[in-house]
Amino acid sequence: MSAMAAPVILAADSGPTILAADSGLGGLTILAEIRKALPQARLAYLCDNAFFPYGTRPDASLLAHFLDVMERAIRRVQPDLIVTACNTISTICLPQLRAATSIPVVGVVPAIKPAAQQSRRKIIGLLATPATINRPYTDALIQRYAADCTVLKIGSAELVEIAEAKLLGRAADRARVRGILAPFFDRPADAQPDVIVLACTHFPLLRIELQSVGPADTTWIDSGTAVARRVVEVLPPPRASALAADLALTSAACEETMRHALAQFGLAAIETLPT
Ligand code: DGL
Repeated sequence: MSAMAAPVILAADSGPTILAADSGLGGLTILAEIRKALPQARLAYLCDNAFFPYGTRPDASLLAHFLDVMERAIRRVQPDLIVTACNTISTICLPQLRAATSIPVVGVVPAIKPAAQQSRRKIIGLLATPATINRPYTDALIQRYAADCTVLKIGSAELVEIAEAKLLGRAADRARVRGILAPFFDRPADAQPDVIVLACTHFPLLRIELQSVGPADTTWIDSGTAVARRVVEVLPPPRASALAADLALTSAACEETMRHALAQFGLAAIETLPT
């Protein structure tokens, strides 16, 4: 990936342009929080549907693919800031992506620190993709912020599929969700996690189904508001946007159901990513 030069045209009244990216539709949960925090921002969303799901891909091919697809998205959008709206990719790509571009990059990584702070029982549940669960980055977060906690881990690619399908119009099967979460809740009450980290940006799409499976006093934490706060903190002064309107880029053809889902998040203009 070559270094990407930033255009320098200034427009005093233009809002910032932010590019968020994920394998599919999950990163829209992050985009929605950014929109709340920065209503004046021009938002672009890369839905890398050609490579969905990320969570079962080997690290090396996923990283090479992501750097390539991001280079093309950055060229099209010319953002002021990039958000890797995906735990699976953020936990492997940040050093390489930051080396490849001068544009600031905000990652989305498992919210282990607030979970450890909020857990009274000192038992945390970590719900993520199989890739995120096994990453050294995730282990380092646990050692640094949750050394005093027991961390129960579930890595589920199936839950990602259920979340993506829900946004595409297929109702989530609660019995399947219950089965996936059984390792958290099929144990004595005092051995269950009281705080669960939604360490995949798809999972807030299933918040209602997830909450229905665990005890009512379980706390479910995702990274959305913290990421939006971080975006506001590190945003550089905006340049003139390359975009006429908010834009979704897909890496493969976009079906009608996906168009509908993107529109629900304010993304009516959709393009296939140029090669
Ligand atoms: N939404 C992504 C995450 O936060 C991953 C989904 C996938 O496996 O593609 O990890």
